Amino acid sequence: MKSCPGVKRLVTAALLVTTFFLWGGVSLAADRAELANVIKTIPPNGPFWKYGTLEMRRRTKKAGMPAVIFPHWSHRARYTCRVCHEELGFSMHSGDTGISRSQYTAGQYCGACHNGVTAFTVQEGSVRQCDKCHMKDTAALEKQFEEFSGDLPFAKFGNGIDWSAALKAGGVRPQNALKADKPILPLPAKLKVPMKLGTAVARSDVTFSHEDHYVELDCSACHPDIFNIKKKGTKAFTMENNIFGNYCGVCHMRVAFPMNDCKRCHTQMSGNYVP
Ligand code: HEC
Ligand code: HEC
Ligand code: HEC
Ligand code: HEC
Ligand code: HEC
Ligand code: HEC
Repeated sequence: MKSCPGVKRLVTAALLVTTFFLWGGVSLAADRAELANVIKTIPPNGPFWKYGTLEMRRRTKKAGMPAVIFPHWSHRARYTCRVCHEELGFSMHSGDTGISRSQYTAGQYCGACHNGVTAFTVQEGSVRQCDKCHMKDTAALEKQFEEFSGDLPFAKFGNGIDWSAALKAGGVRPQNALKADKPILPLPAKLKVPMKLGTAVARSDVTFSHEDHYVELDCSACHPDIFNIKKKGTKAFTMENNIFGNYCGVCHMRVAFPMNDCKRCHTQMSGNYVP
């Protein structure tokens, strides 16, 4: 049974969606009731520390080892997304990289840092630290999260940290490259102007900032796989598809602040949806 506050929030959410559609007053990509139903399926975020924390078990299961726990929150405080998802070649689709022990002990993937110099080692030796990744118990990690997040700006959703604000205020200072000789080109001037979207709904109030994203990500993180590089060229770019983890939802349902946080993208919308 849902508790009363839960039901109340759901009703509020339904009203919120209705209001948004009335406000929009344009032809809609998704039916109002349909979208309200979809929004109900937004995964509950669970405890903050778990959002963006991955459980990797494809290979460990076969090898009879405990699953590997990878926390994005601690790593992204140290490195920008581009370090892992461009420089080191990790995929942004869970399981896609197919990391094997022989690869990471040879210095690829996790082994690029977990070499006993930058971070604790993956190698066999007198001090075995296998269980720091192959975690039987996450209690220590949860405690680490409490301490870590305490001083950072709060967000209601995702892992409870407002990463954009933390970056701007210098609360986190992620490194932008592992190898010093990897230059990061400046953002072309043309892209410094935030762009109004409006593919699915002509008067969408969503504005996208290349500059805010370029701080963390390279062009190839989004083009051409997720977004067409031609303005308004992206097909089927609807809220429903976002919620199901496509387009903005590739990141904004898994690692960056999630879709529940309506107002951070739809700045003119009032309120948020809490499942
Ligand atoms: C220290 C390395 C590292 C950093 C930094 C990092 N990631 Fe990841 N990311 C990973 C790994 C490892 C995976 C899992 C890959 C696999 O399973 O094949 C992953 C997976 C993902 C996924 C898929 C998650 C899922 O649940 O399907 C997304 C989305 C993602 N990362 C986005 C980001 C974003 C955005 C940033 C920057 C804010 C970032 N990552 C920073 C290592 C990193
Ligand atoms: C770009 C460098 C880098 C990569 C790649 C990387 N790590 Fe880390 N990781 C670190 C650093 C630095 C620390 C903190 C130092 C330490 O504890 O020795 C750390 C700490 C950890 C911790 C302890 C908890 C924490 O975050 O403090 C876990 C668990 C972990 N890493 C798992 C992984 C796994 C699994 C992978 C590969 C999927 C991976 N890391 C890839 C740099 C990296
Ligand atoms: C920095 C994190 C990290 C550390 C430390 C670590 N591993 Fe792993 N290990 C991984 C990741 C990531 C995978 C791949 C997980 C998956 O996709 O199932 C993995 C997979 C494995 C596998 C299955 C791999 C395959 O190729 O089939 C074995 C066996 C394994 N680890 C053993 C160990 C042993 C033994 C140690 C300690 C000497 C250790 N690991 C330390 C991250 C780590
Ligand atoms: C990460 C950014 C982001 C968040 C968070 C977000 N949206 Fe959207 N939303 C978009 C984008 C992008 C579009 C499509 C814009 C376009 O047409 O170009 C969109 C479109 C819409 C539309 C227009 C109809 C449609 O299907 O395209 C509605 C209604 C909508 N969003 C409601 C919501 C509600 C309600 C929430 C909170 C539960 C929310 N959005 C959260 C980015 C976001
Ligand atoms: C986080 C995702 C993301 C990143 C990273 C990103 N873009 Fe984009 N880009 C978009 C989106 C979304 C659009 C709009 C697509 C649409 O309207 O269909 C866009 C549109 C464009 C356009 C068309 C702009 C116009 O006004 O016609 C260009 C050119 C472009 N991007 C170039 C780049 C370059 C160059 C980089 C790297 C410096 C980059 N993008 C990085 C998401 C991204
Ligand atoms: C490849 C990953 C990725 C994609 C795709 C992506 N974003 Fe982001 N976005 C991020 C990261 C990382 C941040 C930093 C904040 C965080 O992690 O919560 C961010 C921040 C933002 C912010 C800044 C919020 C603030 O408070 O300053 C907005 C707004 C935003 N994204 C909207 C969008 C929209 C709209 C789209 C789709 C057109 C989109 N993003 C696609 C990764 C992504």
